[in-house]
Amino acid sequence: MHTILVLGGYGFFGGRICAALAADNNIHLLIAGRNAGQAQAMANSLGLCSDQGLAIDANAGDLAQRFAQWKVDTVIHTAGPFQGQDYGVARAAIAAGANYIDLADGRDFVAGITQLDDIAREQEVFVTSGASSLPALSSAVADRYLHRFSQLQSIRHGIASGARAPGLATMRGVFGYCGKAFLRLQNGRRTQVYGWLDTQRHVFPEPVGARLLGSCDVPDLQLFAQRYPGVHTVTFHAGFASMPGHAFVWAASQLVRCGLLASLVPLAKPLHTISQWLEPWVSDKGGMFVSMRGVGIDGKPLELTWHLLAASNHGPHIPCGASIALARKLAAGEKFEAGAKPCMGVISAEDYLAAIAHLDVLEVPA
Ligand SMILES: NC(=O)c1ccc[n+]([C@@H]2O[C@H](COP(=O)([O-])OP(=O)(O)OC[C@H]3O[C@@H](n4cnc5c(N)ncnc54)[C@H](OP(=O)(O)O)[C@@H]3O)[C@@H](O)[C@H]2O)c1
Repeated sequence: MHTILVLGGYGFFGGRICAALAADNNIHLLIAGRNAGQAQAMANSLGLCSDQGLAIDANAGDLAQRFAQWKVDTVIHTAGPFQGQDYGVARAAIAAGANYIDLADGRDFVAGITQLDDIAREQEVFVTSGASSLPALSSAVADRYLHRFSQLQSIRHGIASGARAPGLATMRGVFGYCGKAFLRLQNGRRTQVYGWLDTQRHVFPEPVGARLLGSCDVPDLQLFAQRYPGVHTVTFHAGFASMPGHAFVWAASQLVRCGLLASLVPLAKPLHTISQWLEPWVSDKGGMFVSMRGVGIDGKPLELTWHLLAASNHGPHIPCGASIALARKLAAGEKFEAGAKPCMGVISAEDYLAAIAHLDVLEVPA
């Protein structure tokens, strides 16, 4: 049995990951968060024993000892937001001789995981950050189509959510950069843009249709420029299913940009509650796209776009695919190279999507 501890295991994404792993015969699952009652209730709801729900604080000084005490083989860290977090959980996992996987979407956090490479190699454990839609799935899709280009020049990608609001950690992470300046590569130059502004309209295949999207500060903006040399433009945009909701956050982001509001983070909790009330009136459909442009192997201009469409409010399962697939592979005895790196080139798009294939999710290949 491979013991997997999901930190944040009764959270929005953690709960979905635990539900997927609970039935795996190779996995002994431990569900952790700061609230023992919620962790135990989650364990019971999945048919596990109460003692598989644990109270663990990610900031506890004895984290490594706790992981060792529970003989944890792999830690899945979902207790964001990751923006501004240190690598305490990853360091504790490594010290306990456990593999480490996280769902981070913080740009510096995911890129900086390589600073743990030496100690991860010494301890012979696998450490990866960003095992989620970004950059794991986005890079796997770009890798899949790379061979069609003699020269890849631009990667534009984005996500339009459905009605179901993600957890508070996700909203706090996104709201943290709304209206704030950040840099992205555009036409070969580092260009300053602002979170949730730079509005774009993307037309997804039906039944998702046209959506408004705003610019987001994500790991891919930094990592793709290194992974795909020669690329001169990398952009990422995201949007809500509710147009009024999207417009409200856009307007509030303008206030942050002008200095009239310090941050949207205090709005995360009330807007999270409001979006839960509004869920029945908002589309249950969402999608992700990756558009690549450049010169094809025949020397002619080439542009292609890959889509993933979700209905029945199954979109929130998509970010869980990488950690589920990796956990199952590790539990089945598959070896991953020891060391610490962003989650790119670790899992194929096929393996990622296989982990969520039973859901109402449709791939539209390029
Ligand atoms: N890279 C990507 O593409 C991508 C996509 C989607 C989401 N994400 C990331 O996924 C993360 C999780 O999002 P979510 O929507 O699932 O958030 P969530 O519903 O708020 O869940 C967070 C979980 O972490 C627990 N937690 C918080 N602080 C903790 C601490 N100090 N120690 C232990 N547990 C703690 C929470 O429980 P308690 O508060 O009770 O402890 C909760 O169970 C976010 O940070 C988001 O950025 C990444």
